[in-house]
Amino acid sequence: MCGIVAYAGVRAASPILLQGLRKLEYRGYDSAGIAVHRGSAIDIYKQEGKVANLVDSIGDYQTDPSHQEAHLGIAHTRWATHGPPTQVNAHPHPAGDGRIALVHNGIIENYRSLKSKLEAQGHIFLSDTDSEVLAHLVDSYYDGDLFAALSAALKEVNGTYGIACICADEPGTLLVARRGSPIVIGLGENETIVASDASAIISHTRQAIYLDDNDIAIVEGGKVDVRTLDAVPVQRDLASIDWSEDAAEKGGYDHYMLKEIFEQPEAIRNAIRGRIDEDRGTAILSGLGLSPRELVDFQRLLIVGCGTSLNAGLVGEYAVENFAAMLGEVEQAAEFRYRNPIVGSKDLVIAISQSGETADTLAAVREAIDKGALVAGLVNVVGSTIAREAGRGIYLHAGPEISVASTKAFTCQVSVLLLVALKLARGRRMSREDGVKISRNILGIPALVQTVLEKNDAIAEVAKNFVECAHMFYIGRGYMYPVALEGALKIKEISYIHAEAYNAAELKHGPIALLDENMPVVALMNRGPGKEKTVGNVEECRARKAPVLGVITEGDQEAKAACDWVIEVPDCPHYIATVVATVALQLFSYHVARLRGCSIDQPRNLAKSVTVE
Ligand code: AGP
Repeated sequence: MCGIVAYAGVRAASPILLQGLRKLEYRGYDSAGIAVHRGSAIDIYKQEGKVANLVDSIGDYQTDPSHQEAHLGIAHTRWATHGPPTQVNAHPHPAGDGRIALVHNGIIENYRSLKSKLEAQGHIFLSDTDSEVLAHLVDSYYDGDLFAALSAALKEVNGTYGIACICADEPGTLLVARRGSPIVIGLGENETIVASDASAIISHTRQAIYLDDNDIAIVEGGKVDVRTLDAVPVQRDLASIDWSEDAAEKGGYDHYMLKEIFEQPEAIRNAIRGRIDEDRGTAILSGLGLSPRELVDFQRLLIVGCGTSLNAGLVGEYAVENFAAMLGEVEQAAEFRYRNPIVGSKDLVIAISQSGETADTLAAVREAIDKGALVAGLVNVVGSTIAREAGRGIYLHAGPEISVASTKAFTCQVSVLLLVALKLARGRRMSREDGVKISRNILGIPALVQTVLEKNDAIAEVAKNFVECAHMFYIGRGYMYPVALEGALKIKEISYIHAEAYNAAELKHGPIALLDENMPVVALMNRGPGKEKTVGNVEECRARKAPVLGVITEGDQEAKAACDWVIEVPDCPHYIATVVATVALQLFSYHVARLRGCSIDQPRNLAKSVTVE
C-alpha cells in the first residue's frame, strides 16, 4: 500500500504534492518522489527514506522558479513490494528518455512477462520494481495521445493499480486510473488534487469523486473527464468529504488498530494473490527460490519468531504436520539463538517478522544460517534487515501496520503459512483433490473474515461485560491453542488485563486453582477436532463459578448452552478458523480496551518493532 498524490491547476504543484505526501506517509514511508511538468520537460526528484528526506533534497521549492512555474505534477510515497527501498526503486518512474513519468500503487502480477517483451523491444529498465514496467508499457504505445497509450497498456496488465501519469509532450494533461487500489479526485476552483485517500485532499476541497475499477480520468486544470479503458465516458457521483484530517488518515476509524482489523479481507487477498494454483491444488511461492524437487528434501520445517509472529508460527507447525505429515517445530527466537540448537541442512527455517527488524529474530536467522540450514523470511516490510539477510522468502503484502498491536500481519502470516504447508504437502503424499480443496478454503478466508467484521457491534456489546476484569484465561485445543495465545496477547497489550492462555486440557494440571467468579474464561470452541472436549473443560470452569465467553460456530446450540456469552463465527475447517476466530478476538480486545479508555495505537511500554534484545 503506497500513497499517490497528483495536481493539475494554477498553483505551484510541488508544495501541494509534498504536503499531500506527508499526509499519506502512514500508507508507506520507505522512499518518496515527485515529478513536475515545467511546460516542455518533466523533472523528477526522488529519495530513499521518509518524505522529509525528499523535501530536504529538493531544497527551496517555495521560491525556486523551476518549481513555482510547474502547475502539473505527480507524487508517491512508497511501501515496497517488489525491489528494496532505494532511490532508483522509488517512484515516479520515467520512460522514453523522460517523456513519460508514472506513479503506481498496487501489484502488477504479470510484470515479468511484460518486462521481457519490452526488453526485447529495446526498453532499458533502471529499477527492480513491477511498477516501472507500466511506465515503459505506456511509452511503448505512445504516439501523441497519452490516453490511448495508457488505456492500451492497462489492457495488458494483470493485477491491481492506482496510477497517475504525465507526459512531457502534453503539458496540461494528467491521467489517473484505478483497478483495485483507491483513487479519489478532489475538485477545486480551476484545479484538481488527486490522491490515494481523502486525507491529502481535504485541506484543499471537500468535493470529490471516487474512481471505480477500470476507470481512467483525464484531468486538465479543474476539468475532469472519466472514461472506461475503451474511452466510453462514465459518470461518477460527487461526494462531500466531512471527515477531520486526523480521521481521514485513519480512514474514518477511531484508531489505526480498528482500521487495520477492517483492512484484513483486502490484506489477506493481497497476501495470497497470485500464490494459489487452484487447478493443480498447490501454492506458488517463487520467493522461496526452491523447486518442488528441492522442497521434498527437507525433513523439518523450523519456524522462529517473537510475539504475535511466534503465535502465527504455531499454526504453521500444526498445518505442516497435518497437511504434509512433515516435522514442524516453532522456536522462540530469543531462546533459539542462545540454546545452540540442533539445526542442519535438512531443515527449512522460516523466520517470521512483520517489521523485519526484531533483534531476536534476526539473531536466530544468523544462527540458523551459521548452522547450515536454509533460511527464508516471512516478512511484511520489504527490504528490511531480516528480509535482506535471509536472502529469500515470502513478502506478506499486508501493507503498513501502524498500530503497535499486530492484527492484519497475523492473519496474513497464517494465510501464507497455510500456503507453505500446502506446497510442502503436495510435494509429499497430498493428492491433487485434497490440494484443490485446501486451496479453495484458503481463497475463501477473506469472505469469512468479512462476515466476522459485520458482527463488530455484537462483539462490542459482549466486551462491555469485561471492562472491570483484572485477570482472564484463554483456552483452546489443537489449532485453537495458538488462537488462545494470540487472543490473550492482544488483550494484554492494549487493555492491560492480565491474561493467560492454556491448552484447555492443561487447566486441570494447576491453573484451574485460580478459577472463581473473578476469573473469566474465553474458550475457543469452534466446531472441529477437540470441540467436545473443550465444552467439557468449559463446564469444569463454570463449576468453579468462572464466567465463560465462548467463540463458537454459528448455530452450535450445544456450545452456546455451555457459555455465559458467545461470539459466533462462520463454520469452516479448523485451520481456517485460526484466522476467523482471531479476528473475533481482535475486535473483542479492541472494544474492551476502548471501553477502558486505553491508548490503543500506542500502548504503554511497547514498541512496534523491538530492535534491541
Ligand atoms: C504484537 O502485537 C506485538 N507488537 C509484538 O508481539 C510483535 O509481534 C513482536 O514484537 C514481533 O514483531 P515482528 O513481527 O515485527 O518481528
